[in-house]
Amino acid sequence: MSAPRTLLAIDKVSKNFGRVTAVDGISLDIRENEFFALLGPSGCGKTTLLRMLAGFETPNHGRILLDGGDIARTPPNKRPVNLMFQSYALFPHMSVRANVSYGLEMERLPAKEIRSRVDAILATTELVAFADRKPEQLSGGQKQRVALARALVKRPRLLLLDEPLGALDKKLRGAMQLELKRLQHEVGITFVIVTHDQEESLVMADRMAVLRDGKLLQCDTPHAVYEHPADRFVADFIGVMNFVPGKATADGVMA
Ligand SMILES: Nc1ncnc2c1ncn2[C@@H]1O[C@H](COP(=O)(O)OP(=O)(O)OP(=O)(O)O)[C@@H](O)[C@H]1O
Ligand SMILES: [Mg+2]
Repeated sequence: MSAPRTLLAIDKVSKNFGRVTAVDGISLDIRENEFFALLGPSGCGKTTLLRMLAGFETPNHGRILLDGGDIARTPPNKRPVNLMFQSYALFPHMSVRANVSYGLEMERLPAKEIRSRVDAILATTELVAFADRKPEQLSGGQKQRVALARALVKRPRLLLLDEPLGALDKKLRGAMQLELKRLQHEVGITFVIVTHDQEESLVMADRMAVLRDGKLLQCDTPHAVYEHPADRFVADFIGVMNFVPGKATADGVMA
């Protein structure tokens, strides 16, 4: 197998808001066609990092390279990157179908192509029956699926998903996890997904990064992170872990 190609290089990126350092010198490579998960406790900088990748925030330090080129000055709508917001950000006055079609209409694609792509994605996300409703007439999980459909239909090279499955019940969540994996293979999109759910990262991610206080603690395959957590915080955050106090000696660990 040939070496995986780097799609996005995050190089010593920092972002502060006044005195708060939201992202603190993070370096990461995201590979082409990878399913990459970002994990960490609330407030550790996950959304801020995604917003910088999408172009909604500018880093105070560091560089973000796409295919080797610096995209710091590229506005969001000129990046082949799409962000699905944590808060959905649906257009309230527009139907589900219109919400999903909007991005393709902005690209001025032929009406026939828009229709067939929107139909396909509505079917995938089980939204056909709701196509004519407004967001306020939907449940939280349904809204979340509209936001997902709207992001996927554009077929970006890099799709950033901020807790995309958080509002779904367990059954739908499991189905959408498989669906996202399938879609990713089918359309060849690189995914970066923020999740609070450790199990979800195991099911879905090729590699994952664990953040704390804006810093990167560990980046590896889920298996490696579970088997060899970088420190106690990662171990505690990732898994059902038992800590046994002990002292390391030449003869092994003494309880
Ligand atoms: N616009 C802003 N102005 C000031 N502080 C901000 C701003 N956006 C984020 N922060 C702060 O930066 C830190 C990181 O926030 P961020 O939203 O990236 O966290 P998160 O990891 O996405 O958390 P959650 O899991 O709760 O969504 C937090 O301390 C937050 O309060
Ligand atoms: Mg967030």
